[in-house]
Amino acid sequence: MDPLASRPIHGGNLVWAASLANCSPSAILDFSASINPLGPPASAIAALQSHLGDLKAYPDPQYCELRSALGEFHHIPPEYILPGNGAAELLTWACRDLAALPATCVVTPAFSDYQRALKAFDATVLACPLDPLAHGQWDLARALSIAPTRHPAGKAIGLLLNNPHNPTGSLLLSDLLSAHLNHYAVVVVDEAFMDFLPPDEQQSVLDLVVEHPNLVVLRSLTKFYSLPGLRLGYAIAHPDRLKRWQEWRDPWSVNALAAAVGAVIVQDTTFQQQTWQWLATAKPLLFQGLSDLPGLQPDLGAANFLLVRSKRSVVQLQTELLKQHQVLIRDCVSFPALGDRYFRVAIRTEAENQRLLDGLSQILSNGKEG
Ligand SMILES: Cc1ncc(COP(=O)(O)O)c(C=O)c1O
Repeated sequence: MDPLASRPIHGGNLVWAASLANCSPSAILDFSASINPLGPPASAIAALQSHLGDLKAYPDPQYCELRSALGEFHHIPPEYILPGNGAAELLTWACRDLAALPATCVVTPAFSDYQRALKAFDATVLACPLDPLAHGQWDLARALSIAPTRHPAGKAIGLLLNNPHNPTGSLLLSDLLSAHLNHYAVVVVDEAFMDFLPPDEQQSVLDLVVEHPNLVVLRSLTKFYSLPGLRLGYAIAHPDRLKRWQEWRDPWSVNALAAAVGAVIVQDTTFQQQTWQWLATAKPLLFQGLSDLPGLQPDLGAANFLLVRSKRSVVQLQTELLKQHQVLIRDCVSFPALGDRYFRVAIRTEAENQRLLDGLSQILSNGKEG
């Protein structure tokens, strides 16, 4: 199959990248999936090893231990929390609820799984575009201020958004979002990247779930703790909603090892501190390095990735980076609003970021701008 024709719609597809770079998947330096390069934490590996014996039994379908650890972590009663097979699984059930409404407003560009899950239940989607402002900044608050709240027939609709926003990194203040909660029948906030902000900068609305039964917050444990292969996320929502979702789904969608690891990692304050410290240094350095390259203009978003505008075709740049340097960046071709002039890169260790900058610098200084 032609690797260029089979371009993936998600980051992290190393098999695809390796076929273009003509190397093994393990030789690829992956900037396309926004995963914490410091992980997985040693506490996760130790928990995996010590719980191998759990494989002999079905997991507890109520996931009591994991829910109670997550409840303590967020100071929320455990019945408001439902673990899932990655945030992606819970997104499916959130979209089943959204599909029951006359329409759902989705802030775009959006993580492609939103379309997948909404389409699965034939939801009616109203796009709410997040356009760059004149100075090139993306502003979730502005998108929300002009988003529809009613179906043409006058009925209340749903809202699905991502905060901080992938792929722009735009962050919506929780006070601002809370002012919109009563305008919608259901609001689903995907906070898959919120953990990357230090606690005093986070803008989560999870505390508001107890007073707002129409609010659903989705969290992922796969990015911050570098465990995308384990599959673990959770929803925070009203217990009645979560009970309904449990009746719809497979009773053991979180495997026993993921459940054991989840209960341990949220208590790993050492790993959390290390991550915030690394990001505080690595992000401005990578941002500056990219800004200094000809034809590139990065956005300084709130998350652990940077969206970069490129004067040159990104598909070409991505192919050259893969073939010449075995470095994979995330093209934005699957985001119709962005297309071939944007790419996204995860922030990685300083040495790895330098490898990306060196590769880009070599290609951009050789190539013609177009
Ligand atoms: C915005 C967003 N939400 C959710 C997910 C899914 O996370 P998980 O691995 O927990 O299913 C991703 C993964 O790329 C994402 O980018």
